[in-house]
Amino acid sequence: GNYTGPLRPQIHFSPPVNFMNDPNGMFVDAEGVYHLYYQYNALETVAGNQHWGHATSRDLYHWVNQPIALFPGNRSQGIFSGSSVVDVNNTSGLFPDQDNGVVAIYTLNSPNDQSQNLAISYDSGYTFEKYEGNPVLTIGSTQFRDPKVIWYAPTQRWVMVIAYAQEFTVGIFTSQNLLNWTAASNFSYHGLLGLQWECPNMVEMPMENSTETMWVMLVSINPGSPLGGSITQYAPGSFNGTHFTAVDSVARIADFGKDNYAGQFFYGIPGDQPQISIAWASNWQYTQAVPSGPLEGWRSAMSLPRINYLTNATRVGYRLVSLPYDLSPVTSSEPLQSNDDLGNGTVLVDFTDLESKVIYFELNITNIPAVNASGTANFTFLSSITGESLSGGQYLLGDNPFWLDRGRLRGFDSDPFFTDKFSTNVLYDADTAAFTLSAVLDRSLLEVFLQGGEQSATITLFPEQPLDILVLRTAGLNEGVGVSAAVWGLDSAWA
Ligand code: FRU
Repeated sequence: GNYTGPLRPQIHFSPPVNFMNDPNGMFVDAEGVYHLYYQYNALETVAGNQHWGHATSRDLYHWVNQPIALFPGNRSQGIFSGSSVVDVNNTSGLFPDQDNGVVAIYTLNSPNDQSQNLAISYDSGYTFEKYEGNPVLTIGSTQFRDPKVIWYAPTQRWVMVIAYAQEFTVGIFTSQNLLNWTAASNFSYHGLLGLQWECPNMVEMPMENSTETMWVMLVSINPGSPLGGSITQYAPGSFNGTHFTAVDSVARIADFGKDNYAGQFFYGIPGDQPQISIAWASNWQYTQAVPSGPLEGWRSAMSLPRINYLTNATRVGYRLVSLPYDLSPVTSSEPLQSNDDLGNGTVLVDFTDLESKVIYFELNITNIPAVNASGTANFTFLSSITGESLSGGQYLLGDNPFWLDRGRLRGFDSDPFFTDKFSTNVLYDADTAAFTLSAVLDRSLLEVFLQGGEQSATITLFPEQPLDILVLRTAGLNEGVGVSAAVWGLDSAWA
């Protein structure tokens, strides 16, 4: 693959050529190598002809493209989304001589059936052979897919969540050996419905400021997001080995942008540790029309790797906190600029000379009064050549919306579904009296994180020229409000 094109993300994963969608089968092996598989059409820049592509990394930023891991049997079949586990104790009986046997559980999509199948790897996930007893789970439905399997130690069982896509239902199945599966319960008609539920995940994760863990059910919805197209919702709750029970009936969305879908959590991270996820950074509404295809021969990147945990300290109760995984492997230099006492001011960073064109910035505003907060904070990325821009901010600090605008970019603005503007409510936090914003711009991707990751947004952008100037600005602040800002240029992981 050629990773030099001006739209090519430099710290995000994207496929060497052609079309990628969902992350699949993610696990970390005993040597500490992260394995990412993904829905891959190696022949065209549009969806179809689904294989599992494969890449490996030690730090989740520097990826090595590996040979395609799973191939369908013929042109009428597709290897759809699924997950992988490491069968350390040889529960399957397939690995008598090793403790690092990998089992991939995927949906085989055929004209008349979506069935669940296994592929076996004796070399820690580099090569697979299909299990001869396939399929291991079929109900004769064309809308039954995306198995995500975890190990549940208290009952010594494997637990699968899987979508009955058009019945707005996640099925929970259990197994002692990965080969025979028993239906245990259903989780259905919760929160947003859309038209289909896909790619469920059920994850144990730590609670902020607590030694307890909780469970989170995540469901991807497509089409039918309130923003149009694809979106992911989540529900905090409890799990007893057979049933998931949500704490409440609130519909919570994982990302207030439009390009974060089908996220998956790595297998093999203990439940009391922050959980690591990666999502597909695109939207089915326009993914097959974006200009990286005709211009550079590839379509779709993954989101940043994210760490995730739950908090219950917000005014709306539980929230899934999501932040970039440790960026230090791509942060070799000092900040391009930093200012601990910006006040009402402007930071201007001209990064025309930064070859990667990848920027990370943080803006922290403290001591915001609880009543009558004044002042504004915003950012703008510009192209020094075309004047195109990408911006976002809070018109008014305090309990007021945060907005993003990708409508002033000329490279891709004709698609009616490639909507321009996004916003979310920032809920003033009386405990911290702070507003925090951090963001990564990576050529054709922007990810923003508000209030320490309590909210995040992922959006794609396709400027005609790379954005190469950043302006951070605050104005009209109350007396006594503190502002600090820092901007880093990040290193390309692909150069
Ligand atoms: C989600 C999805 C999955 C399916 C895969 C096919 O984006 O539709 O439900 O397994 O993509 O590529």
